[in-house]
Amino acid sequence: MHVTFHLADDLAHALHQAAAAAGLDAAAFAPDLRTADPRHGDFQANGVLGYAKARKLNPRTVAEQLIAALPAPIAAAFDVTIAGPGFINFTARPATLLAWLRAYHSRATLATGAAAAHAGQTWVVDYSSPNTAKQMHVGHLRSAVIGEAICRLLAFTGARVIRDNHLGDWGTQFGKLIYGFKRWADPAALAREPIEELERLYKLGNDATPEGSPALDEARRELVALQNGDPANVALWKKFSDVSLAAFQQIYDRLGIHFDHHLGESFYNDKVDRVYRELTETTPPIAENSAGALVVFHDEHPRFSRQAERPNPFMVRKADGASGYASTDLATALYRVEHFHADGIVVVTDFRQGDHFEQLFLTVKKWFAAKNYRLPELHHVTFGAVTGEDGKALKTRDGDTIKLKALLDEAVDRAFAIVSEKNADLPETERRSIAEIVGIGAVQYADLSQNRSSNYVFSWEKMLALDGNTAPYLLYAVARVHSIFRKQNLTPADPATEAHASPLHTPAEIALARKLVKFPDALRLATDTLRPHFLGLYLYELAGEFSSFYSADKVIVDDPAIRARRLLLCARTLLVLETGLHLLGLRTLTRM
Ligand code: ARG
Repeated sequence: MHVTFHLADDLAHALHQAAAAAGLDAAAFAPDLRTADPRHGDFQANGVLGYAKARKLNPRTVAEQLIAALPAPIAAAFDVTIAGPGFINFTARPATLLAWLRAYHSRATLATGAAAAHAGQTWVVDYSSPNTAKQMHVGHLRSAVIGEAICRLLAFTGARVIRDNHLGDWGTQFGKLIYGFKRWADPAALAREPIEELERLYKLGNDATPEGSPALDEARRELVALQNGDPANVALWKKFSDVSLAAFQQIYDRLGIHFDHHLGESFYNDKVDRVYRELTETTPPIAENSAGALVVFHDEHPRFSRQAERPNPFMVRKADGASGYASTDLATALYRVEHFHADGIVVVTDFRQGDHFEQLFLTVKKWFAAKNYRLPELHHVTFGAVTGEDGKALKTRDGDTIKLKALLDEAVDRAFAIVSEKNADLPETERRSIAEIVGIGAVQYADLSQNRSSNYVFSWEKMLALDGNTAPYLLYAVARVHSIFRKQNLTPADPATEAHASPLHTPAEIALARKLVKFPDALRLATDTLRPHFLGLYLYELAGEFSSFYSADKVIVDDPAIRARRLLLCARTLLVLETGLHLLGLRTLTRM
């Protein structure tokens, strides 16, 4: 039996054929297939209702005509029923489930099935993107974790993904930092804790240069010298970037993140003049002069129109002639299309940058249309704030920003305590390496298990709990399946298991198989919406379905055909759980 990766795609195709065979207007009929409530079936086609209504037909009659005209292989593969006014429910028969499980037996076969979604496309993902010479804060951690999951989802679904760390490495603050650095830099501190030292020097520089002071003029001269390419200042600025990036990389390494590019704001310095020119040379011009600045209004938009109560135009060039965040982001969009040939651009930042990206995308659309540039899909992926359990922004007890290294270390320490309690006989080195994966995974998964749009309350207890939708629970589920194979001296991909599996039979076997064949749908939903939590939720439900199966049906039974099919279910559960967790950026364990 041939089964497609997305069984729903087989059904959509079959319904189209049926519509044509039944003499319906097949071109106008959209089957609208969805994952069904499992009590009613696996997939539900909702499209009959709209079709029938528009033509004043009885939807149940249309549904019956379609079902009667379904191609024979589909009618054999699914139980088909009509529900309510004309929904068509499809339930995969056990043989269909087994055929799918046999066809998608490895990560490579899953990837081949999934790759159709973005095959041939290039996506640039801009994430983490912290400012140099400053600590990364919790927001950059969220961006890094969510962004990396999105990269992996896009790559698995066929895209060429370009990971771009758009560093905030340019701006007026560098004048004061250079001023402070030249006077007070402490080489030992710089070697030990470079970012902390740069933060201290910036603070000293800032405190020493109050408005109107000669020192401020000196700091401005340092900035102008930097902008004019003064070798000493450029070398200092380069050093700031290098030490910052080296410190950031230590965090990225622990999170499994490797950027392809670090094209920060400074990279676009020499590319903003073209933006100014192109935005003003169109008729009518897209950007206009306003009190010396170059700005873009969007009159079709209630808040960005010049008629708005408090006009808030997009500031393409400041009144003093300087470029800013808007200028570099416009140049960035063009570069990503011209240089990387991006079909899609995703930028991951917290929701407070919403207005900036809305204005950016509106401006890019007008600009690219005027110049006939190809417009990629533009996505601003936002996330909510992280708060402590008191509901306030996450800070240390002294009100300082939390150091991410300390946060990750604490996660690992806490995980170590839990692992040691559960598994006292494992050697300490092994418990330590397990704790690194569980602790980091817990922090990552706390971000990925819930809808990124909501604020989230940072809670060690919740993220490290061994039950509920948490990393420890899922990692433990994976380790448990591994142990089933280990105890039998088998590997999950055992050819005998594959060969001898008999038809699925018990309710628990069938329920687990039905959940497994939904992996493509969860993957598609998470990728299409750029919301990884849909995949996380699916994995959590799959782990629950596995638990039910495992307590209902003994796996290691004497009958070789029954044992083989149950081991096959274990192997596929493991495959999907591990593939899914890796797509979210987590590492998995064979023993926990
Ligand atoms: N550096 C910015 C920040 O720390 C984020 C940059 C996001 N990317 C972009 N292309 N604007 O908030």
